[in-house]
Amino acid sequence: MIPFSPPRIDDKTIAEVTDALQSGWITTGPKTKLFEEKLAAFIGVKHVVCLNSATAGMQLILNWLGIKKGDEVIVPAYTYCATANVVIHAGAKPVMVDVNEDDFNISINAVRNAITPKTKAIIAVDIAGYPADYDELHQLVRENQINSLYNPENSVQQKLNRIAIVADAAHSIGAIYNGARTGNQADMSSFSFHAVKNLTTAEGGAVAFNLKEFSSQELQQKFKVSSLHGQTKDAFSKNQIGAWKYDVVEAGFKCNMTDLQAAIGLVELKRYEETLARRKTIFEKYQNAFSKKAWAKVPLFSSNNKTSSYHLYMLRIKDISEEKRDVIIAKTSEKEVAVNVHYLPLAMLTYYRNKGYAINDYPQTYENYKAEITLPVYYNLTDSQVETVINAVVESVEEVI
Ligand SMILES: Cc1ncc(COP(=O)(O)O)c(C=O)c1O
Repeated sequence: MIPFSPPRIDDKTIAEVTDALQSGWITTGPKTKLFEEKLAAFIGVKHVVCLNSATAGMQLILNWLGIKKGDEVIVPAYTYCATANVVIHAGAKPVMVDVNEDDFNISINAVRNAITPKTKAIIAVDIAGYPADYDELHQLVRENQINSLYNPENSVQQKLNRIAIVADAAHSIGAIYNGARTGNQADMSSFSFHAVKNLTTAEGGAVAFNLKEFSSQELQQKFKVSSLHGQTKDAFSKNQIGAWKYDVVEAGFKCNMTDLQAAIGLVELKRYEETLARRKTIFEKYQNAFSKKAWAKVPLFSSNNKTSSYHLYMLRIKDISEEKRDVIIAKTSEKEVAVNVHYLPLAMLTYYRNKGYAINDYPQTYENYKAEITLPVYYNLTDSQVETVINAVVESVEEVI
């Protein structure tokens, strides 16, 4: 079976994790600090904070913004549940909007129509690693008519003085927008290092700060405190001679990254350019093969100002029903190739359906979803395995359509 997305674990990963284990320091400490510095340098921002997931990153962002009951946060209808679940946890309402046909990302027009005096933030998702339209989002929230609706309710919101733009950058570490890596466009961006992601720490995430109105060093410190119960010193600082005393300044969360995770991340980051190059080659091989097929709608992964991180190769089959797409997936699996669907739209999930969201309100999301099949992409997928995947998909599609 060709798996969908196995992690790359080799002697280098094992040696770095062993080093952390043997050091005796396994929770947040020197390796996490080093990983944060290297990550910030790679992204091209001054500071990032490492956490145990992208979900935790988004939760801390909403917490910092003071988002609460009665507020609205706009999210795309086509994303992983984490994007909306964090809004629910903040006590606010996720306002789902439809997405683009060409790149699966949040539709700027749909965002415009969804803004109300309760809107406090927009979470854009860089689906598949292809950045959302950040210039357009920044312009939109600054338009006089839109900005006049904004109703700041705390000092952070007053200082920001507009709707916040948050990136769910779970897929897009290393993607480029207007010549800069993702992390430099939204006010804050949350990256995922989950096991299936391009760059993994087993579980993990990081938030990159990009707010002129606030010091990123202070934000990093603030988020560290929020990620550790509101405690003013982490275990490593407390462990220094005579430094046991600490305070708790808020009822914070518990979502810090450990040095074991950071050890994996340090190895992954060091070879990430190489990883991206291989993923790009695989995307191009798929693109080359499927563009020749009249039934295929191939994904967008580069344009004049955007380059993907090549996270998910999201193929679509033209004029297909959801049922037939599912048969194609079953047939591909029978040919020993694991494929996937990204994503079951939020409004089709029981929890959100029960809350009154209906897929009929997001027609483009459904059109994209019903036709979509995600193909395997990972560093050590060989050229001959890529051929096997292509043949399995082509044969399965042509048996069904
Ligand atoms: C679009 C999107 N957002 C958020 C997440 C959550 O990431 P994490 O598992 O690191 O919390 C994922 C993970 O699959 C995702 O695909």
